[in-house]
Amino acid sequence: MKIVFAKPGLPETGVVVVGVLADGELTASAAAIDAAMDGGLVRAMESSRFEGKKDQAMSLLAPAGTKLDRVHVVGLGKAGDLDARRFQALGGQVYAALAGRGVGALSIALDAIEDCELDPGDMAAEVALGMRLRSYRFDKYRTKEKKEDKPSLKTVRLLCEGAAAGRKAFSAQDKVAEGVFLTRDLVSEPSNVLYPISFAKILQDELEPLGVEVEVLTPKAMKKLGMGALLGVAQGSANEPRLVVMQWRGKTKAQGKGKGKKTKDLQGPLAFIGKGVTFDSGGISLKPSGGMEEMKWDMGGAGVVAGLMKALAGRKAKVDAVGIVGLVENMPSGTAQRPGDIVTSMSGQTIEVLNTDAEGRLVLADALWYCKERFKPSAMIDLATLTGAMIIALGHEMSGVFSNDDELCEAMVAAGEQVGEKLWRLPMGEAYDRMLKSDAADMKNIGGRGAGSITAAQFLKRFVGDVPWAHIDIAGTAWSKKDEATVPKGGTGFGVRLLDCLVAESYED
Ligand code: BES
Ligand code: MN
Ligand code: ZN
Repeated sequence: MKIVFAKPGLPETGVVVVGVLADGELTASAAAIDAAMDGGLVRAMESSRFEGKKDQAMSLLAPAGTKLDRVHVVGLGKAGDLDARRFQALGGQVYAALAGRGVGALSIALDAIEDCELDPGDMAAEVALGMRLRSYRFDKYRTKEKKEDKPSLKTVRLLCEGAAAGRKAFSAQDKVAEGVFLTRDLVSEPSNVLYPISFAKILQDELEPLGVEVEVLTPKAMKKLGMGALLGVAQGSANEPRLVVMQWRGKTKAQGKGKGKKTKDLQGPLAFIGKGVTFDSGGISLKPSGGMEEMKWDMGGAGVVAGLMKALAGRKAKVDAVGIVGLVENMPSGTAQRPGDIVTSMSGQTIEVLNTDAEGRLVLADALWYCKERFKPSAMIDLATLTGAMIIALGHEMSGVFSNDDELCEAMVAAGEQVGEKLWRLPMGEAYDRMLKSDAADMKNIGGRGAGSITAAQFLKRFVGDVPWAHIDIAGTAWSKKDEATVPKGGTGFGVRLLDCLVAESYED
């Protein structure tokens, strides 16, 4: 889908989208069309209870008095409530309403609105982003889909004052959308296609051309490093594990340019670590069969790290960022880890594995420790589809965040609010940490019956030292079973836009 920014001025033919504010207040473009229709637009509103409320929409086909094919009228709601997220949602809704209706091209008219913080160029950029995000489809395995069932929309024209500024703002956000799409692709792939080795190859193919350095550690290298926790999870699978390190040196590069001297980096990079369990059967602590197919997306955290690296490199973010993903498959077999096994992590701490289905924390334990030791990062943020208990606590509306650093955590919550990927902070503390006490080793890999998401976070905290750290449990948000304005059902990419926003707001100058 091509998105074009152009000067204001309604087209005479084709499909056009215009807005109406709350209480039926027409925008300039809606008023122009109503005039051409001799009051027909207002009459149509009155005869269909269309009042310009948010999420309302109404389509007029071949309206008399014009040569247009269709006028699609969208409700904008109250002018004072119109923010960036609202325009993104609007874009997504317009896409959903028209892209599959045989419409090949459409124009959206954006007018200045009193009491609205955004000017038309900004509005257009947000609408464009919303349309792009909603347009995602994972259809590579559908060989028999009929042409008429595929989206027909090929060209969108955004008509506004300040088109050049809008175009520029959108082009950076379009790179972020490309990152979101990579995450959605990875999360959607089935486990017979996406396993550690193929995952690592995709990361090289996707990221190296953008200037990201990608290193792939084999089991031999991981063994040498002493990653007994990660390797224990992988030992039952025919698919070998991999640990992939991605580096984007956007700040170092920007500083090196022009100045001729290399500025010494006083601060370590910002690090993102992802759980990449490409299939989680539970291992010997086997999961029930109902719904087990969902565990193909147990690599969602790693998918977000990959998509974020693509977004940052794509828009050439002025930040030094490291992405690390621990890629393993958790399977039962004659070589699989047994309940009761004791493994030694890279940190030297020993872990009694009482449930082989609590595997994500074992993978992250070694990935976090490795990250801390090698990169001395200024902060570490991990993402994982870590606990079913997260879904019990927050459902699918928000992700839980856990942190040892208030400032970092608050910045993350604010970024989530800004992009509509909401975080809710959960508590941590000594009392929860005690629940990991083992009689046989330094800790066990499960807590008690209660507070499952918190004890999982406490487990991770034992592997981060005193680095500012936050953990996002995306078990409830990595996958969606229903369409939302800017997120079609399936892999959501939750986390990419949030972390990109965090980087832009707090780490780039
Ligand atoms: N990958 C799962 C968590 C999960 C469950 C994510 C459902 C998304 C949807 C994780 O590895 C797991 O199995 N966790 C166990 C932990 C328990 C054994 C302490 C769980 O949540 O039941
Ligand atoms: Mn599990
Ligand atoms: Zn898992």
